Amino acid sequence: MIVIVALFALYLLERNAMRRAVEQQAVVLAEVVARHATVVQSVYTKQIVEKLSKDGFGAHANWAHHRGFVPMPAVFLKLVGHATSQSYVDLFSYRQISKWHLGPSQGLRDDFEHWAWMHLEAQDQANPSGPIAWQPAWRVERQDNGRVLRFMVADPASSSACVECHNHLESRPQTVEWRMANGTPLGKQWRLHQLIGAISVTIPLEQIEMGVFAQNRPTIIWVSTILIASLIVIVGGLILNVRAISDPSSLPSSATHDSTTGLLNRAGLQSELDHLFRSAHARSQNHAFCCLTVHGLDTIRERGNASVIKTAMHQLAQCIRDRVRREDIVARVRDNGFVVLARSCDLAQAKEIAAQLEYAILHCKISTLGISPALWGTTAVTLLNAASGTVSSALDMMALACEQFDKSRIASTKPPPPHSDTDR
Ligand code: HEC
Repeated sequence: MIVIVALFALYLLERNAMRRAVEQQAVVLAEVVARHATVVQSVYTKQIVEKLSKDGFGAHANWAHHRGFVPMPAVFLKLVGHATSQSYVDLFSYRQISKWHLGPSQGLRDDFEHWAWMHLEAQDQANPSGPIAWQPAWRVERQDNGRVLRFMVADPASSSACVECHNHLESRPQTVEWRMANGTPLGKQWRLHQLIGAISVTIPLEQIEMGVFAQNRPTIIWVSTILIASLIVIVGGLILNVRAISDPSSLPSSATHDSTTGLLNRAGLQSELDHLFRSAHARSQNHAFCCLTVHGLDTIRERGNASVIKTAMHQLAQCIRDRVRREDIVARVRDNGFVVLARSCDLAQAKEIAAQLEYAILHCKISTLGISPALWGTTAVTLLNAASGTVSSALDMMALACEQFDKSRIASTKPPPPHSDTDR
């Protein structure tokens, strides 16, 4: 589960990083486009319009019908903008716009342009002493043709010529009529450096996404390979696990394990004991046997078939396993007899484990056949240490302890009064 979450997080990180890279590239491109547009306009104004004015001609609104006259700078930029948008339709497009537009097609058109204009207007100053450090406004939008970057940068009154001409044009009857028709306030007057208009740039992100993808292809391929390989390992692991659970033959060897519960059997216990015994000697550690006899299973034995009994014993084994420490070994040595081998513990700890086991059995809910029999467990504890002699004598000791204890108790077994859950 943790691995899947981690993989998903990795994927999200990678996707976010790609998106950010695409947006950053698009913003840089938009800045270049906008700056280039303003440079084109100012070169046109200085080198062409001013030269023609000196020669007795100049720029004229009706330039097409006046010999020797050329378009106004804004109109020239509009022509360049149109031509560019047509040739580079999937790379970028731009428009010169204004809330105070004179040309009918240069107004604020959509939600982005109104939002971005407000952003620029907020940076305008009442009486600027020098050029304002305008910050562009931008955001990414989803349009019919995919994701696009919308970008807007100020086109301020950079020279007194802009101020004079635009201030003069505001009082023209034609403009007044136009302002009234559009509901724009009348009599707007600019000072040098104030906001006259803006360049609105649109960059489709698809091309850039493809570029960034191509650039990051090796990384993407590596990350995807790792993701897919990890998923295959996880899914494979799950399938094998499910098989192992449903196929008893793939459970641990039946020579050392009890086929009903999957716990160790006597032989398995003996080999574990062998191992523990050596370490008990070598490091003079104490270990403990805890014999546990479970009572109250008769109802199930009498009424249930083999598979019902198997399910019940499985649940019982789980109750025992849940109670012992991770390092302890649990074995089924008789029908209703279990042994817990508690590693590195003294008598007090062993008794505590025994008490825990009795508690576990008392509270173990076995539900099969629609009955949940009342169970209880009885325990006996023996220590295993360097003084225990050999493995076989230790086993004998254990068997003896379990048997003696069974003889003394089994005859008169009645369920003890249940403990309350808050005792532990
Ligand atoms: C000689 C007069 C004149 C000068 C000088 C001038 N403009 Fe304009 N400007 C116009 C006219 C006329 C239009 C409308 C053109 C059209 O019909 O599209 C316009 C359009 C614009 C627009 C587009 C929005 C609109 O109003 O339609 C912006 C922005 C703009 N000018 C900014 C500037 C800036 C900045 C400068 C100085 C660098 C400048 N102008 C210099 C006359 C002028």
